[in-house]
Amino acid sequence: MTSTPIASKIIPKAARASLDPATIDYTSDRQRNAVEALINEFTISPQLLQDVKASFMEGMKKGLKKDGETMAMVTSYVMGRLDGSEVGSYLALDVGGTNLRVVAVHLTGGGEITTSQTKYRIDEKLKVGEAKALFDFMAVCVDSFLDEHQIVVRGDTQFELGFTFSFPVLQTSINRGTLITWTKGFNASGMVGKDPVAFLQDAFNRRHIPVRVAALVNDTVGTLLAHAYNHPDTCMGVILGTGCNGAYIEKMENIAKWKGDASAKEMIINMEFGAFDKERQVLPLTMFDNKMDRKSVNPNKQILEKMIAGMYLGEITRNVLLNLIDRRLLFEGCISADLNQMWTFETAYMSTIEADNSATLHATRKILESTLSFSSTTMNDRQIVKLVVELVGKRAARLSAAAIASVLDHTGDWKQKAAIGIDGSLFEYYPSFNTDIMDGLEEVFGPTVRQNVSIGLAQDGSGVGAALCALLAAKYTN
Ligand code: GLC
Repeated sequence: MTSTPIASKIIPKAARASLDPATIDYTSDRQRNAVEALINEFTISPQLLQDVKASFMEGMKKGLKKDGETMAMVTSYVMGRLDGSEVGSYLALDVGGTNLRVVAVHLTGGGEITTSQTKYRIDEKLKVGEAKALFDFMAVCVDSFLDEHQIVVRGDTQFELGFTFSFPVLQTSINRGTLITWTKGFNASGMVGKDPVAFLQDAFNRRHIPVRVAALVNDTVGTLLAHAYNHPDTCMGVILGTGCNGAYIEKMENIAKWKGDASAKEMIINMEFGAFDKERQVLPLTMFDNKMDRKSVNPNKQILEKMIAGMYLGEITRNVLLNLIDRRLLFEGCISADLNQMWTFETAYMSTIEADNSATLHATRKILESTLSFSSTTMNDRQIVKLVVELVGKRAARLSAAAIASVLDHTGDWKQKAAIGIDGSLFEYYPSFNTDIMDGLEEVFGPTVRQNVSIGLAQDGSGVGAALCALLAAKYTN
Protein backbone atom coordinates (compact mmCIF):
# COMPACT_ATOMS: atom_id res chain seq x y z
CA MET A 1 0.00 0.00 0.00
CA THR A 2 1.37 3.45 -0.86
CA SER A 3 0.60 6.88 0.50
CA THR A 4 1.01 10.02 -1.57
CA PRO A 5 1.51 13.39 0.11
CA ILE A 6 -0.41 16.26 -1.49
CA ALA A 7 0.27 19.98 -1.49
CA SER A 8 -2.22 22.31 0.17
CA LYS A 9 -3.87 25.22 -1.63
CA ILE A 10 -4.43 28.56 0.09
CA ILE A 11 -7.19 30.74 -1.33
CA PRO A 12 -7.41 34.25 0.14
CA LYS A 13 -10.75 35.09 1.73
CA ALA A 14 -12.86 37.84 0.16
CA ALA A 15 -16.07 39.60 1.19
CA ARG A 16 -19.44 38.73 -0.32
CA ALA A 17 -20.45 41.09 -3.15
CA SER A 18 -24.23 40.84 -2.78
CA LEU A 19 -26.43 41.13 -5.82
CA ASP A 20 -29.66 43.09 -5.41
CA PRO A 21 -32.39 40.99 -7.11
CA ALA A 22 -34.14 44.24 -8.11
CA THR A 23 -31.21 45.07 -10.41
CA ILE A 24 -31.60 41.89 -12.47
CA ASP A 25 -32.91 42.48 -15.96
CA TYR A 26 -35.33 39.52 -15.97
CA THR A 27 -36.01 37.85 -19.32
CA SER A 28 -39.67 37.21 -18.42
CA ASP A 29 -42.20 37.47 -15.61
CA ARG A 30 -41.91 33.70 -15.24
CA GLN A 31 -38.22 34.10 -14.51
CA ARG A 32 -38.85 36.89 -12.00
CA ASN A 33 -41.52 34.79 -10.25
CA ALA A 34 -39.24 31.76 -10.12
CA VAL A 35 -36.47 33.84 -8.53
CA GLU A 36 -38.89 35.32 -5.98
CA ALA A 37 -40.08 31.84 -5.07
CA LEU A 38 -36.48 30.74 -4.50
CA ILE A 39 -35.80 33.77 -2.30
CA ASN A 40 -38.82 32.80 -0.22
CA GLU A 41 -37.79 29.19 0.09
CA PHE A 42 -34.17 29.80 1.01
CA THR A 43 -34.44 32.81 3.32
CA ILE A 44 -34.07 32.11 7.03
CA SER A 45 -36.26 34.86 8.47
CA PRO A 46 -35.58 36.15 12.00
CA GLN A 47 -38.61 34.17 13.20
CA LEU A 48 -37.42 30.95 11.58
CA LEU A 49 -33.97 31.45 13.09
CA GLN A 50 -35.62 31.68 16.53
CA ASP A 51 -37.73 28.57 15.83
CA VAL A 52 -34.70 26.57 14.75
CA LYS A 53 -32.85 27.75 17.86
CA ALA A 54 -35.72 26.75 20.20
CA SER A 55 -35.93 23.28 18.69
CA PHE A 56 -32.13 22.91 18.73
CA MET A 57 -32.01 23.73 22.45
CA GLU A 58 -34.64 21.06 23.08
CA GLY A 59 -32.53 18.60 21.09
CA MET A 60 -29.49 19.41 23.22
CA LYS A 61 -31.38 18.72 26.43
CA LYS A 62 -32.68 15.38 25.13
CA GLY A 63 -29.19 14.28 24.09
CA LEU A 64 -27.78 15.15 27.51
CA LYS A 65 -30.42 12.93 29.17
CA LYS A 66 -29.82 9.70 27.29
CA ASP A 67 -27.90 8.00 24.50
CA GLY A 68 -29.53 7.29 21.16
CA GLU A 69 -31.10 10.73 20.69
CA THR A 70 -30.90 12.61 17.36
CA MET A 71 -28.13 14.89 18.62
CA ALA A 72 -25.79 12.41 20.29
CA MET A 73 -24.25 14.97 22.74
CA VAL A 74 -21.23 12.68 23.19
CA THR A 75 -19.31 12.90 26.47
CA SER A 76 -15.71 13.42 25.33
CA TYR A 77 -14.00 12.45 28.59
CA VAL A 78 -12.09 15.74 28.35
CA MET A 79 -12.46 17.46 31.71
CA GLY A 80 -10.67 20.52 32.99
CA ARG A 81 -9.36 23.53 31.11
CA LEU A 82 -6.03 24.50 29.59
CA ASP A 83 -4.02 27.58 30.48
CA GLY A 84 -1.44 27.60 27.67
CA SER A 85 1.45 26.49 29.89
CA GLU A 86 1.28 22.86 28.74
CA VAL A 87 4.43 21.46 27.08
CA GLY A 88 5.28 18.26 25.18
CA SER A 89 5.68 16.66 21.74
CA TYR A 90 2.97 14.52 20.20
CA LEU A 91 1.85 13.05 16.92
CA ALA A 92 -1.63 13.73 15.60
CA LEU A 93 -3.55 11.82 12.95
CA ASP A 94 -6.51 13.67 11.51
CA VAL A 95 -9.12 11.69 9.60
CA GLY A 96 -12.56 12.92 8.65
CA GLY A 97 -12.14 15.81 6.23
CA THR A 98 -11.24 15.78 2.56
CA ASN A 99 -7.66 14.72 3.31
CA LEU A 100 -5.89 12.68 5.93
CA ARG A 101 -3.17 14.58 7.81
CA VAL A 102 -0.30 13.52 10.00
CA VAL A 103 1.04 16.26 12.23
CA ALA A 104 3.99 16.49 14.63
CA VAL A 105 3.03 18.98 17.32
CA HIS A 106 5.45 20.62 19.76
CA LEU A 107 3.79 22.52 22.58
CA THR A 108 6.40 24.85 23.98
CA GLY A 109 4.36 26.62 26.68
CA GLY A 110 3.09 30.20 26.82
CA GLY A 111 0.50 29.32 24.16
CA GLU A 112 3.35 28.66 21.66
CA ILE A 113 3.09 25.77 19.24
CA THR A 114 5.19 24.55 16.33
CA THR A 115 3.92 21.93 13.91
CA SER A 116 5.03 20.09 10.79
CA GLN A 117 2.51 18.17 8.77
CA THR A 118 1.87 16.16 5.64
CA LYS A 119 -1.50 15.71 3.92
CA TYR A 120 -2.46 12.53 2.10
CA ARG A 121 -5.39 12.06 -0.22
CA ILE A 122 -7.77 9.27 0.77
CA ASP A 123 -8.88 7.36 -2.30
CA GLU A 124 -12.68 7.35 -2.70
CA LYS A 125 -12.56 3.53 -2.90
CA LEU A 126 -10.93 3.31 0.53
CA LYS A 127 -13.75 5.40 2.04
CA VAL A 128 -16.36 2.84 1.04
CA GLY A 129 -14.25 -0.34 1.03
CA GLU A 130 -13.31 -2.57 3.96
CA ALA A 131 -12.54 -0.81 7.23
CA LYS A 132 -9.31 -2.78 7.71
CA ALA A 133 -7.88 -1.41 4.44
CA LEU A 134 -8.75 2.14 5.48
CA PHE A 135 -7.02 1.78 8.87
CA ASP A 136 -4.01 0.09 7.27
CA PHE A 137 -3.73 3.11 4.99
CA MET A 138 -3.75 5.39 8.03
CA ALA A 139 -0.91 3.42 9.62
CA VAL A 140 1.09 3.52 6.36
CA CYS A 141 0.70 7.31 6.22
CA VAL A 142 1.97 7.71 9.80
CA ASP A 143 4.90 5.41 9.02
CA SER A 144 5.89 7.32 5.89
CA PHE A 145 5.52 10.62 7.80
CA LEU A 146 7.99 9.40 10.44
CA ASP A 147 10.39 8.37 7.66
CA GLU A 148 9.99 11.60 5.73
CA HIS A 149 10.60 13.74 8.83
CA GLN A 150 13.31 11.37 10.12
CA ILE A 151 11.56 11.04 13.44
CA VAL A 152 12.92 8.09 15.44
CA VAL A 153 12.11 6.77 18.90
CA ARG A 154 14.74 6.08 21.48
CA GLY A 155 14.95 2.57 22.89
CA ASP A 156 11.64 0.81 23.25
CA THR A 157 9.56 3.93 23.92
CA GLN A 158 6.56 4.80 21.78
CA PHE A 159 5.18 7.97 20.29
CA GLU A 160 1.97 9.18 21.86
CA LEU A 161 -0.63 9.91 19.20
CA GLY A 162 -3.85 11.91 19.38
CA PHE A 163 -6.30 10.42 16.87
CA THR A 164 -8.77 12.94 15.51
CA PHE A 165 -11.48 10.72 14.08
CA SER A 166 -14.24 13.12 13.11
CA PHE A 167 -17.30 10.93 13.04
CA PRO A 168 -20.00 10.24 15.62
CA VAL A 169 -18.29 7.98 18.14
CA LEU A 170 -19.83 7.02 21.46
CA GLN A 171 -16.80 7.40 23.71
CA THR A 172 -16.25 5.02 26.58
CA SER A 173 -12.94 6.53 27.72
CA ILE A 174 -10.41 9.10 26.52
CA ASN A 175 -9.05 6.56 24.01
CA ARG A 176 -11.90 4.14 23.47
CA GLY A 177 -15.29 4.35 21.75
CA THR A 178 -17.62 2.83 19.19
CA LEU A 179 -18.61 4.30 15.85
CA ILE A 180 -22.31 5.21 15.81
CA THR A 181 -22.52 5.81 12.06
CA TRP A 182 -20.33 7.05 9.22
CA THR A 183 -20.86 10.55 7.79
CA LYS A 184 -19.41 12.81 5.04
CA GLY A 185 -19.17 10.24 2.24
CA PHE A 186 -17.35 7.56 4.29
CA ASN A 187 -19.01 4.17 4.50
CA ALA A 188 -16.28 1.58 5.10
CA SER A 189 -17.76 -1.80 5.95
CA GLY A 190 -17.46 -3.62 9.26
CA MET A 191 -16.87 -0.54 11.38
CA VAL A 192 -20.18 0.62 12.87
CA GLY A 193 -20.35 -0.49 16.52
CA LYS A 194 -16.57 -1.07 16.59
CA ASP A 195 -13.72 0.84 18.22
CA PRO A 196 -11.67 2.90 15.72
CA VAL A 197 -8.76 3.06 18.18
CA ALA A 198 -8.55 -0.75 18.32
CA PHE A 199 -8.47 -0.89 14.50
CA LEU A 200 -5.73 1.74 14.30
CA GLN A 201 -3.61 0.32 17.12
CA ASP A 202 -3.85 -3.11 15.52
CA ALA A 203 -2.67 -1.68 12.17
CA PHE A 204 0.32 -0.05 13.94
CA ASN A 205 1.18 -3.20 15.87
CA ARG A 206 1.06 -5.46 12.81
CA ARG A 207 3.60 -3.16 11.13
CA HIS A 208 5.73 -2.69 14.28
CA ILE A 209 5.22 1.06 14.12
CA PRO A 210 6.14 2.41 17.59
CA VAL A 211 3.01 4.49 18.15
CA ARG A 212 0.42 4.34 20.93
CA VAL A 213 -3.02 5.84 20.39
CA ALA A 214 -3.33 7.90 23.56
CA ALA A 215 -6.49 9.87 22.79
CA LEU A 216 -9.50 9.67 20.52
CA VAL A 217 -10.71 13.14 19.64
CA ASN A 218 -13.48 14.68 17.61
CA ASP A 219 -12.32 17.62 15.49
CA THR A 220 -14.72 19.98 17.31
CA VAL A 221 -13.25 19.00 20.68
CA GLY A 222 -9.75 19.43 19.22
CA THR A 223 -10.71 22.85 17.88
CA LEU A 224 -12.03 23.94 21.26
CA LEU A 225 -8.81 22.80 22.97
CA ALA A 226 -6.54 24.32 20.31
CA HIS A 227 -8.29 27.69 20.56
CA ALA A 228 -8.23 27.50 24.37
CA TYR A 229 -4.43 27.13 24.31
CA ASN A 230 -4.27 30.78 23.20
CA HIS A 231 -7.66 32.00 24.43
CA PRO A 232 -8.40 30.49 27.84
CA ASP A 233 -11.96 31.92 27.76
CA THR A 234 -12.87 29.61 24.84
CA CYS A 235 -16.31 28.09 25.42
CA MET A 236 -16.98 26.42 22.08
CA GLY A 237 -15.22 24.75 19.13
CA VAL A 238 -16.98 24.58 15.78
CA ILE A 239 -16.18 22.94 12.46
CA LEU A 240 -17.59 24.48 9.29
CA GLY A 241 -15.87 22.53 6.55
CA THR A 242 -16.59 19.30 4.66
CA GLY A 243 -18.98 18.56 7.53
CA CYS A 244 -20.26 20.68 10.40
CA ASN A 245 -20.51 20.21 14.14
CA GLY A 246 -19.78 21.86 17.48
CA ALA A 247 -18.43 21.11 20.96
CA TYR A 248 -18.82 23.12 24.15
CA ILE A 249 -18.05 22.96 27.85
CA GLU A 250 -20.96 21.61 29.88
CA LYS A 251 -21.47 21.49 33.65
CA MET A 252 -21.41 17.90 34.95
CA GLU A 253 -24.71 18.43 36.77
CA ASN A 254 -26.44 19.04 33.42
CA ILE A 255 -25.23 15.75 31.90
CA ALA A 256 -27.94 13.48 33.30
CA LYS A 257 -26.74 10.45 31.32
CA TRP A 258 -23.17 10.60 32.75
CA LYS A 259 -22.49 7.63 35.00
CA GLY A 260 -18.72 8.06 35.44
CA ASP A 261 -16.44 10.02 37.73
CA ALA A 262 -18.51 12.76 39.32
CA SER A 263 -15.61 14.66 40.88
CA ALA A 264 -14.95 16.86 37.82
CA LYS A 265 -16.97 20.06 37.46
CA GLU A 266 -17.31 20.13 33.69
CA MET A 267 -16.75 18.15 30.50
CA ILE A 268 -16.50 18.95 26.80
CA ILE A 269 -19.53 17.66 24.89
CA ASN A 270 -19.24 16.76 21.20
CA MET A 271 -22.75 17.62 20.09
CA GLU A 272 -22.86 15.92 16.65
CA PHE A 273 -25.22 18.71 15.68
CA GLY A 274 -25.09 17.88 11.97
CA ALA A 275 -27.69 15.20 12.79
CA PHE A 276 -30.18 17.78 14.11
CA ASP A 277 -33.80 17.53 12.91
CA LYS A 278 -33.72 14.03 11.46
CA GLU A 279 -37.46 14.21 12.17
CA ARG A 280 -37.75 17.12 9.66
CA GLN A 281 -39.80 19.20 12.06
CA VAL A 282 -38.29 22.64 11.71
CA LEU A 283 -35.62 22.92 9.02
CA PRO A 284 -36.99 24.46 5.82
CA LEU A 285 -35.94 21.63 3.48
CA THR A 286 -36.56 22.29 -0.19
CA MET A 287 -36.99 19.78 -3.00
CA PHE A 288 -33.38 20.61 -3.96
CA ASP A 289 -32.16 19.46 -0.55
CA ASN A 290 -34.23 16.30 -0.74
CA LYS A 291 -32.91 15.44 -4.17
CA MET A 292 -29.33 15.75 -2.96
CA ASP A 293 -30.07 13.81 0.24
CA ARG A 294 -31.57 10.88 -1.69
CA LYS A 295 -28.41 10.53 -3.78
CA SER A 296 -26.01 10.84 -0.85
CA VAL A 297 -24.35 7.78 0.74
CA ASN A 298 -26.32 8.41 3.95
CA PRO A 299 -29.89 9.38 2.97
CA ASN A 300 -32.11 10.77 5.75
CA LYS A 301 -29.12 11.34 8.00
CA GLN A 302 -27.16 14.49 8.90
CA ILE A 303 -29.99 16.77 7.76
CA LEU A 304 -28.61 20.01 9.23
CA GLU A 305 -25.09 19.15 8.07
CA LYS A 306 -26.40 18.76 4.54
CA MET A 307 -27.80 22.33 4.62
CA ILE A 308 -24.58 23.85 5.97
CA ALA A 309 -21.46 21.92 5.07
CA GLY A 310 -19.08 22.38 2.18
CA MET A 311 -19.56 18.84 0.95
CA TYR A 312 -23.18 19.55 0.03
CA LEU A 313 -23.73 23.24 -0.80
CA GLY A 314 -22.48 22.95 -4.37
CA GLU A 315 -24.78 20.03 -5.12
CA ILE A 316 -27.83 21.85 -3.73
CA THR A 317 -26.95 24.83 -5.93
CA ARG A 318 -26.55 22.53 -8.92
CA ASN A 319 -30.01 21.08 -8.28
CA VAL A 320 -31.56 24.56 -8.26
CA LEU A 321 -29.77 25.50 -11.49
CA LEU A 322 -30.89 22.25 -13.16
CA ASN A 323 -34.48 22.99 -12.22
CA LEU A 324 -34.29 26.49 -13.73
CA ILE A 325 -32.70 25.07 -16.87
CA ASP A 326 -35.40 22.41 -17.22
CA ARG A 327 -38.02 25.15 -17.01
CA ARG A 328 -36.13 27.08 -19.71
CA LEU A 329 -35.50 29.95 -17.31
CA LEU A 330 -31.70 29.77 -17.47
CA PHE A 331 -29.08 29.21 -20.22
CA GLU A 332 -31.98 29.10 -22.72
CA GLY A 333 -32.82 25.66 -21.40
CA CYS A 334 -29.45 24.10 -22.36
CA ILE A 335 -27.15 22.36 -19.92
CA SER A 336 -23.43 21.63 -20.25
CA ALA A 337 -22.22 18.04 -20.05
CA ASP A 338 -20.16 18.98 -16.99
CA LEU A 339 -22.99 20.52 -14.99
CA ASN A 340 -25.09 17.49 -15.85
CA GLN A 341 -22.87 15.33 -13.64
CA MET A 342 -23.59 15.07 -9.92
CA TRP A 343 -21.26 16.85 -7.47
CA THR A 344 -19.50 18.83 -10.25
CA PHE A 345 -20.53 22.23 -8.90
CA GLU A 346 -17.93 22.60 -6.18
CA THR A 347 -18.51 24.71 -3.09
CA ALA A 348 -15.16 26.41 -3.90
CA TYR A 349 -16.81 27.83 -7.05
CA MET A 350 -19.49 29.33 -4.84
CA SER A 351 -16.83 31.23 -2.87
CA THR A 352 -15.49 32.74 -6.08
CA ILE A 353 -18.97 33.61 -7.39
CA GLU A 354 -19.99 35.17 -4.06
CA ALA A 355 -16.91 37.41 -4.14
CA ASP A 356 -17.36 38.40 -7.80
CA ASN A 357 -17.97 42.17 -7.76
CA SER A 358 -17.03 42.88 -11.39
CA ALA A 359 -19.54 44.73 -13.58
CA THR A 360 -19.75 41.84 -16.06
CA LEU A 361 -19.49 39.08 -13.42
CA HIS A 362 -16.42 37.85 -15.16
CA ALA A 363 -15.20 35.42 -12.47
CA THR A 364 -18.65 33.81 -12.59
CA ARG A 365 -18.40 33.66 -16.36
CA LYS A 366 -14.99 31.98 -16.15
CA ILE A 367 -16.36 29.25 -13.91
CA LEU A 368 -19.40 28.66 -16.10
CA GLU A 369 -17.62 28.83 -19.44
CA SER A 370 -14.06 27.62 -18.77
CA THR A 371 -14.62 25.20 -15.90
CA LEU A 372 -18.14 23.94 -16.53
CA SER A 373 -17.89 24.26 -20.34
CA PHE A 374 -20.97 26.30 -21.18
CA SER A 375 -20.26 27.61 -24.68
CA SER A 376 -21.57 31.06 -23.78
CA THR A 377 -23.54 32.79 -21.01
CA THR A 378 -25.53 36.02 -20.87
CA MET A 379 -25.31 38.60 -18.10
CA ASN A 380 -28.78 37.49 -17.03
CA ASP A 381 -27.60 33.85 -16.72
CA ARG A 382 -24.66 34.92 -14.60
CA GLN A 383 -26.80 37.11 -12.34
CA ILE A 384 -29.27 34.30 -11.72
CA VAL A 385 -26.46 31.85 -10.95
CA LYS A 386 -24.93 34.35 -8.53
CA LEU A 387 -28.23 34.93 -6.80
CA VAL A 388 -28.84 31.19 -6.34
CA VAL A 389 -25.32 30.75 -4.92
CA GLU A 390 -25.92 33.61 -2.48
CA LEU A 391 -29.22 32.13 -1.31
CA VAL A 392 -27.69 28.72 -0.60
CA GLY A 393 -24.58 30.24 1.07
CA LYS A 394 -26.46 32.68 3.26
CA ARG A 395 -28.92 30.03 4.42
CA ALA A 396 -25.95 27.89 5.52
CA ALA A 397 -24.38 30.76 7.47
CA ARG A 398 -27.65 31.70 9.21
CA LEU A 399 -28.33 28.09 10.21
CA SER A 400 -24.79 27.95 11.64
CA ALA A 401 -25.65 31.10 13.60
CA ALA A 402 -28.80 29.42 14.95
CA ALA A 403 -26.77 26.45 16.19
CA ILE A 404 -24.11 28.62 17.84
CA ALA A 405 -26.75 30.89 19.39
CA SER A 406 -28.45 27.84 20.91
CA VAL A 407 -25.27 26.84 22.72
CA LEU A 408 -24.57 30.39 23.91
CA ASP A 409 -28.11 30.66 25.24
CA HIS A 410 -27.99 27.23 26.89
CA THR A 411 -24.72 28.01 28.72
CA GLY A 412 -25.37 31.73 29.21
CA ASP A 413 -21.87 32.37 27.82
CA TRP A 414 -23.13 35.23 25.65
CA LYS A 415 -23.48 37.34 28.79
CA GLN A 416 -19.74 37.29 29.53
CA LYS A 417 -16.41 37.48 27.69
CA ALA A 418 -16.19 34.28 25.68
CA ALA A 419 -14.30 33.04 22.63
CA ILE A 420 -15.45 30.59 19.97
CA GLY A 421 -12.83 28.82 17.84
CA ILE A 422 -13.98 27.81 14.37
CA ASP A 423 -12.04 25.70 11.89
CA GLY A 424 -12.89 24.38 8.42
CA SER A 425 -12.67 25.47 4.82
CA LEU A 426 -16.12 27.02 4.72
CA PHE A 427 -15.41 29.34 7.62
CA GLU A 428 -11.91 30.05 6.38
CA TYR A 429 -12.61 30.74 2.71
CA TYR A 430 -16.33 31.34 2.13
CA PRO A 431 -17.02 35.09 1.81
CA SER A 432 -18.76 36.75 4.75
CA PHE A 433 -19.56 33.54 6.65
CA ASN A 434 -18.17 35.09 9.84
CA THR A 435 -20.11 38.35 9.31
CA ASP A 436 -23.37 36.45 8.74
CA ILE A 437 -22.81 34.44 11.91
CA MET A 438 -22.15 37.55 14.02
CA ASP A 439 -25.21 39.26 12.50
CA GLY A 440 -27.32 36.22 13.38
CA LEU A 441 -26.03 36.26 16.97
CA GLU A 442 -26.85 39.95 17.27
CA GLU A 443 -30.34 39.28 15.96
CA VAL A 444 -30.85 36.81 18.82
CA PHE A 445 -29.04 38.48 21.73
CA GLY A 446 -28.85 42.16 20.80
CA PRO A 447 -25.69 44.27 20.38
CA THR A 448 -23.95 43.24 23.67
CA VAL A 449 -23.06 39.90 22.16
CA ARG A 450 -20.61 41.67 19.82
CA GLN A 451 -18.70 43.09 22.79
CA ASN A 452 -18.71 39.82 24.70
CA VAL A 453 -18.30 37.01 22.21
CA SER A 454 -15.47 36.75 19.70
CA ILE A 455 -15.40 34.21 16.92
CA GLY A 456 -12.01 33.41 15.46
CA LEU A 457 -10.31 30.99 13.13
CA ALA A 458 -8.79 28.14 15.13
CA GLN A 459 -6.35 26.99 12.53
CA ASP A 460 -5.46 23.34 12.73
CA GLY A 461 -7.79 22.59 15.59
CA SER A 462 -7.70 18.94 14.59
CA GLY A 463 -3.91 18.58 14.77
CA VAL A 464 -3.04 20.78 17.73
CA GLY A 465 -6.20 19.80 19.58
CA ALA A 466 -5.40 16.09 19.24
CA ALA A 467 -1.95 16.72 20.73
CA LEU A 468 -3.48 18.66 23.62
CA CYS A 469 -5.92 15.86 24.19
CA ALA A 470 -3.11 13.27 24.26
CA LEU A 471 -1.43 15.48 26.86
CA LEU A 472 -4.58 15.69 28.97
CA ALA A 473 -5.06 11.91 28.64
CA ALA A 474 -1.63 11.37 30.22
CA LYS A 475 -2.64 13.71 33.08
CA TYR A 476 -5.82 11.69 33.75
CA THR A 477 -4.05 8.33 33.77
CA ASN A 478 -1.04 9.44 35.86
C1 GLC B 1 -19.56 15.19 10.80
C2 GLC B 1 -19.10 14.22 11.88
C3 GLC B 1 -18.62 14.96 13.12
C4 GLC B 1 -17.59 16.00 12.74
C5 GLC B 1 -18.13 16.92 11.64
C6 GLC B 1 -17.12 17.95 11.19
O1 GLC B 1 -20.69 15.84 11.23
O2 GLC B 1 -20.15 13.32 12.21
O3 GLC B 1 -18.06 14.05 14.06
O4 GLC B 1 -17.23 16.75 13.87
O5 GLC B 1 -18.53 16.16 10.53
O6 GLC B 1 -15.98 17.35 10.65
